Amino acid sequence: MASIIDGKKISQQIKDELKEEVARYREKGVSICLAVIQVGNDPASAVYVGNKKKACAYVGIESLAYELPEETTQEELLALVKELNEKKEVNGILVQLPLPEHIDENVVIRTISPEKDVDGFHPQSVGALSIGQRGFVSCTPAGVIQLLKRSGIQIDGKECVIIGRSNIVGKPLAMLLLRENGTVTVCHSHTADLKAVARRADILVVAIGRAKMVDADYVKEGAVVIDVGMDRDENGKLCGDVDYASVEPKASAITPVPGGVGPMTVAMLMNNCVETARRENALSADRTI
Ligand code: GUN
Repeated sequence: MASIIDGKKISQQIKDELKEEVARYREKGVSICLAVIQVGNDPASAVYVGNKKKACAYVGIESLAYELPEETTQEELLALVKELNEKKEVNGILVQLPLPEHIDENVVIRTISPEKDVDGFHPQSVGALSIGQRGFVSCTPAGVIQLLKRSGIQIDGKECVIIGRSNIVGKPLAMLLLRENGTVTVCHSHTADLKAVARRADILVVAIGRAKMVDADYVKEGAVVIDVGMDRDENGKLCGDVDYASVEPKASAITPVPGGVGPMTVAMLMNNCVETARRENALSADRTI
């Protein structure tokens, strides 16, 4: 029987802590503002953006929403990002991905000022993370670390196996686990004998985007299993990359989908927004993240 790692509860705790911190900033006359840009009307993106705006309102962060039509040109989008880079009252800029095909995501990400890159996607942020310097950390991997720490799971000295090498999750998570003194292996579609490598893990993180692919055969007895997937099963029901029913009896702790990693991404975005204020105002001696 695994203990369930409750991402909803932990993300709520973090948002409540941030709410207090933001209130203290407000007393000192400091406000925090996030600009969120969505291009086109991808329904999933609209849900994510809605969740981000709701979290901002809860924590006390101002949000500016830019909903641009699908046919927006790259030049128009870049002009908006540059304008927001210059605006002193805007602390963070987030361009929701994916963008329409005629827009080059990499060019857009590079145009966001690294000072306002609350998604942590800019090459400067990624580079800083990899050499242990200060910079914004991508929200989902940062959320995985908080889930582990706040559940009392030790990373130091543990075998950590990540399945998936995306720029947004797998690679930055490898850097974060290393920073916590884990021994890290990153697996991908060319990994020979994936099951055997995964079975080495004390902490197994799965981020591949394939519904229920990881079953009990991939899991060592007593492992901690973190499921970053957000998929649909054969009946259209929301599920993760991990076959929960098969893995749960073997794991010592496991994240559910939904209610595991998902809510943490938004909480960590809020943390990055607050971080912009921490950098400019040394007010947060009692910060917890
Ligand atoms: N699309 C899916 N996840 C994310 C995210 O974390 N940030 C942005 N900007 N777009 C996304």
